[in-house]
Amino acid sequence: MRKNILFIGVLLGVLSLAAFSAYSQEDIEFVEDSAFTDNMRPLPAFKHDEHNEMAGLECNECHHVYDDDGNLVEDESSEDQECSECHGAEGDEYPMELVRRYHLNCRGCHLSEKAGPVACGECHAKAP
Ligand code: HEC
Ligand code: HEC
Ligand code: HEC
Ligand code: HEC
Repeated sequence: MRKNILFIGVLLGVLSLAAFSAYSQEDIEFVEDSAFTDNMRPLPAFKHDEHNEMAGLECNECHHVYDDDGNLVEDESSEDQECSECHGAEGDEYPMELVRRYHLNCRGCHLSEKAGPVACGECHAKAP
């Protein structure tokens, strides 16, 4: 009987861990910025954690913070914000500036690292 209770306790612990991680970045498989309400292209595949571990990236390589003089602040991250919160081009019917930023970030690094996809169809590949 004791053993059963212990087992159920462990099981519940595992289940609640699984439920918790469902709300973290671990499950991101596509980039889906809420600023795009009417996507023309399939969502770009992006297995967040897997990608960043494989490429060995620090969080603020993408989730960056700049000071008022425009200098990058080391050791600080804006991971709690969507890219569009700062690069949204407010008032635009279609946020071209935001598209440019995403492409510069993703494609720009792939080009300079000579690794990762650089053609449109390689990123915008699979229908969501
Ligand atoms: C290669 C760029 C990149 C790196 C490196 C990166 N992220 Fe992200 N992260 C993104 C993008 C892109 C999104 C999704 C933005 C969207 O869809 O609005 C995101 C989303 C998130 C979210 C939001 C999750 C959600 O469900 O809303 C969190 C939290 C997050 N990242 C944390 C981190 C942490 C912690 C690290 C470092 C361990 C990290 N990120 C490294 C690009 C990156
Ligand atoms: C808290 C506000 C903020 C957030 C969130 C943010 N940025 Fe930025 N970003 C800036 C600022 C400020 C600059 C520097 C000034 C400029 O270029 O406008 C910058 C610069 C950039 C640049 C040009 C320099 C470079 O690093 O190549 C790109 C590309 C970029 N951001 C993409 C992104 C992406 C992609 C995300 C989401 C993963 C993101 N930004 C999230 C504020 C932010
Ligand atoms: C600072 C550098 C850097 C940034 C920023 C970056 N990547 Fe990558 N990415 C890489 C590297 C390096 C690889 C190759 C990793 C390998 O094969 O070892 C890669 C591989 C990939 C791959 C193929 C492997 C996989 O995970 O399926 C995809 C898809 C990808 N990146 C999408 C993106 C998207 C979308 C963004 C922007 C949100 C992005 N990347 C931003 C460096 C970067
Ligand atoms: C390295 C990956 C990558 C490559 C290569 C790439 N994109 Fe993107 N693109 C993205 C990401 C990430 C976003 C943001 C998607 C989102 O949040 O919905 C985006 C957004 C867009 C958007 C705005 C959202 C939409 O679907 O309407 C358009 C249009 C677009 N890309 C077209 C292109 C075209 C055309 C090319 C080739 C010239 C291209 N992209 C190459 C990653 C990429």
